[in-house]
Amino acid sequence: MEPTPEPPVASSETGGSGVGSSIANSLLSLRNVTKSFGAVQALRHVDLDVPPGKVTALIGDNGAGKSVLIQTIAGIFPPSTGEMYWRGERVHVHNPRNAADLGIATVYQDLALCNNLDIVQNMYLGREEKRHGVLDEIKMELETKRLLADLSVTTVQSVRQLVGSLSGGQRQSIAVARAVMRESQLVIMDEPTAALGVSQTAQVLALVRKLSERGIAVLLISHNLNDVFSVADYIAVMHLGVLVSSGPIANYDTTSAVELITTGASAKVPSSLVRAGHEG
Ligand SMILES: Nc1ncnc2c1ncn2[C@@H]1O[C@H](COP(=O)(O)OP(=O)(O)O)[C@@H](O)[C@H]1O
Ligand SMILES: [Mg+2]
Repeated sequence: MEPTPEPPVASSETGGSGVGSSIANSLLSLRNVTKSFGAVQALRHVDLDVPPGKVTALIGDNGAGKSVLIQTIAGIFPPSTGEMYWRGERVHVHNPRNAADLGIATVYQDLALCNNLDIVQNMYLGREEKRHGVLDEIKMELETKRLLADLSVTTVQSVRQLVGSLSGGQRQSIAVARAVMRESQLVIMDEPTAALGVSQTAQVLALVRKLSERGIAVLLISHNLNDVFSVADYIAVMHLGVLVSSGPIANYDTTSAVELITTGASAKVPSSLVRAGHEG
């Protein structure tokens, strides 16, 4: 009898929670990722697939482990156990530099912008363009204008404005623009609209869509289900450190999303998209 050939690509990795999701066709995959801080188990056996060029919303209650999860991806907290794959290859991210080198950019809640510097200075902070040993202000200014125009960030009046004088939405846009300056393929955003009003939120969500149109994947943490359902292609729900469900947004509605966020389960979501037996 002929031996059965091995399938060419991994199509059924252990515990993958989304239909058709696999390491091979994802930009980023986590498998069995666990993170403990002493007695606190912040992440328990997390499996996550982030498809390329799409918006994936990461949702969950306070303390569910969303921030720890993205900080793990970004190399701030190395996982206690588990694996990470980038474009199907196993990778080891030990620090933020490793993540940045892969093309992962993270925009944290505090944005880490300098209010007393202007937009151009913020964009190039720590990586200033020089010409004959002198800062190339003209080049940096032109590049900043070009990038903001590319991203359809149109409300900023002058790139020489101090960042401290910008609105919350504009500051968020500058932080995102700075993140994508270096050939990023995945932009992770932690609650980008949490402190914003309606029109500023719309600006930031438009920017999220724009990144995806440009082929950049976005992993977006949000508390706001309106934002999630207006902008996301995929959803991933965390509950008490467990990634309880993930899949295309069409499989969810606000009721099932709320159920998953609050209880970790929902009868309304196809069982193939829910990880069973996560208790304990
Ligand atoms: N640096 C840390 N040290 C110890 N525990 C932490 C640390 N960061 C987060 N945690 C704990 O991990 C859990 C998940 O937190 P977090 O990821 O911030 O939740 P959220 O989903 O609200 O972003 C919480 O119980 C939190 O207290
Ligand atoms: Mg958080």
